[in-house]
Amino acid sequence: MCGIVGYTGSVRAEGQGGTGLPASSERPLEVVLGGLKRLEYRGYDSAGVALVGPGRDTAASAKKAGKLANLVAEIEATPLPAATAAVGHTRWATHGGPTDVNAHPHLADDGRLAVIHNGIIENYGELREGLERDGVSFLSDTDTEVAAQLLAREYRAAGDLTAAMAATARALEGTFTLLAVHADAPETVVGARHDSPLVVGLGEGENFLGSDVAAFVAYTKEALELAQDQVVTITPGAVAVTDFAGRPAEGKRFTVDWDAAAAEKGGFDSFMDKEIHDQPQAVADTLLGRTDASGRIVLDDLRIDESVLRSVDKIIVIACGTAAYAGHVAKYAIEHWCRIPVEVELAHEFRYRDPIVDERTLVVAISQSGETMDTLMAVRHAREQGAKVVAIVNTNGSTIPRESDAVLYTHAGPEIAVASTKAFLAQITAAYILGLYLAQLRGNKFPDEVALLFDELRNMSRKVQTVIERGEYVRATARSMSAADKVLFLGRHVGYPVAMEGALKLKELAYIHAEGFAAGELKHGPIALVDAGQPVFVVVPSPHGRDQLHSKVVSNIQEIRARGARTLVIAEDGDDEVLKHADEVFWIPRAPTLMQPLLAVVPLQIFAMALATAKGLDVDQPRNLAKSVTVE
Ligand code: M6R
Repeated sequence: MCGIVGYTGSVRAEGQGGTGLPASSERPLEVVLGGLKRLEYRGYDSAGVALVGPGRDTAASAKKAGKLANLVAEIEATPLPAATAAVGHTRWATHGGPTDVNAHPHLADDGRLAVIHNGIIENYGELREGLERDGVSFLSDTDTEVAAQLLAREYRAAGDLTAAMAATARALEGTFTLLAVHADAPETVVGARHDSPLVVGLGEGENFLGSDVAAFVAYTKEALELAQDQVVTITPGAVAVTDFAGRPAEGKRFTVDWDAAAAEKGGFDSFMDKEIHDQPQAVADTLLGRTDASGRIVLDDLRIDESVLRSVDKIIVIACGTAAYAGHVAKYAIEHWCRIPVEVELAHEFRYRDPIVDERTLVVAISQSGETMDTLMAVRHAREQGAKVVAIVNTNGSTIPRESDAVLYTHAGPEIAVASTKAFLAQITAAYILGLYLAQLRGNKFPDEVALLFDELRNMSRKVQTVIERGEYVRATARSMSAADKVLFLGRHVGYPVAMEGALKLKELAYIHAEGFAAGELKHGPIALVDAGQPVFVVVPSPHGRDQLHSKVVSNIQEIRARGARTLVIAEDGDDEVLKHADEVFWIPRAPTLMQPLLAVVPLQIFAMALATAKGLDVDQPRNLAKSVTVE
């Protein structure tokens, strides 16, 4: 959840950080604040930094409750001294409320040691009692301060920060990324990770640490992925990795395939707006390079033996939130194309309910961040039962792909806004590629059928662009509805997960009670919620489909309208029938039924964003939420 940055190097600032601080600020502070700004989407309850430099007896630090801007203002008012190494943190509170005192860093060893932490230390109560018995007193309620005091004690015993960090990591239970600086080692930052993300950025005469590459991509694209249970020590000229027992270990090098500009707003008012506009590209890029000259799908990165994929008799999609809705959409397509039963399950439910999984089960784990702890735990559980796991993930260097058997990356670029938009479209696209690949491999579809469907997918990018271009009508409607306090969403077939996703967007951004229902379920209860003026969004399937979906949904619209609902309908261009029953229509281009979700969700995203904006809310950082949920 929290954002973590570490830096060591001794050169001066070059004004690249975009922190708003004067260019004369020292580079360590600039890098760390710049990194925190790019990581603020991971947590924004409070923020803090700590710096160490030659000739200084203690770590200098500043921390403030609230958004990063509060910390920057504090540092402008009370400047920090020059430094050679620094750590920074943006917090999403777990233990202890979002106050100045509970913000990170936490200091120990008479102010010489500063520690920041992401995760939850489960045995912190027991450890705290032990430390208190030894005379240590605590300033905060946090589990992090316990880690800091423990590290201080280990350091006093070992006289070496790396060894002390390894010993501390061995004593902690739970999930954690820890970073520490000590006044005794002014060019060193030490980190440890257990079930929580940490990547290394490799510079020239300087090195970086971050919860993800966004922390340092403005400075270097060369990175090192750390494995589970590793300690890393960075100095300006070296990076050393060990395991928790202190044995030398290695990270895996990779190059970040996007640049810092991709993580900027690029002239849009919000990251969410920008990311909605990125969607045509996200779909196109995710499809890129997946076919050979003859049009056959080739998935080089899917390192699972073809015979294993042929023998799969069940697919289980595991994910959370928006990624789970992408999985719901994919279920309709994969079952239809491959004739393999597909279950979709929230990862946290899957993990703790003794699911039936064996060697013939293919588990597909979908995650934008690749760090969602619930999904990671479910991946581990599935593999322990013998299943093969394919990860559909957007973030390079993240944990879920590394712990899966294979990965299909979505190429949506960095998603910064907490509300997921372009990742959803890219996830559906990647899951469809996987579905078509399995259909090709298992002979469920002829090559020309696969090629045709793949072409339809390619066409979706342009159609998504058309929906975005029609966005102003959606925005105006949203602005006129800013007083709404309850909104319902209905859909059938692939429109059902789209309805749920529309409701999720409205809940998380506009704090309005919103529910998505299967339209067929209406008469089994939810229709009781409909009274005069109740806004109900309805996702209408194509009138050109070969089934009766369209007429069924039109009947559902009539049923709710008869009870006074205000019907807001998403329908395909030329659907004259639906026009008779709708109060508002948001038109989308014609598309095959299975691909319609890529279009139908876009007006719902725009609606939620515009309504939240009309209410004066921060659409990029909604209350109580963090972008990556790295604790269970
Ligand atoms: O990073 P992931 O895709 O694993 O995240 C899963 C959910 O936490 C995420 O989709 C969440 O529901 C979003 N805030 C929805 O907009």
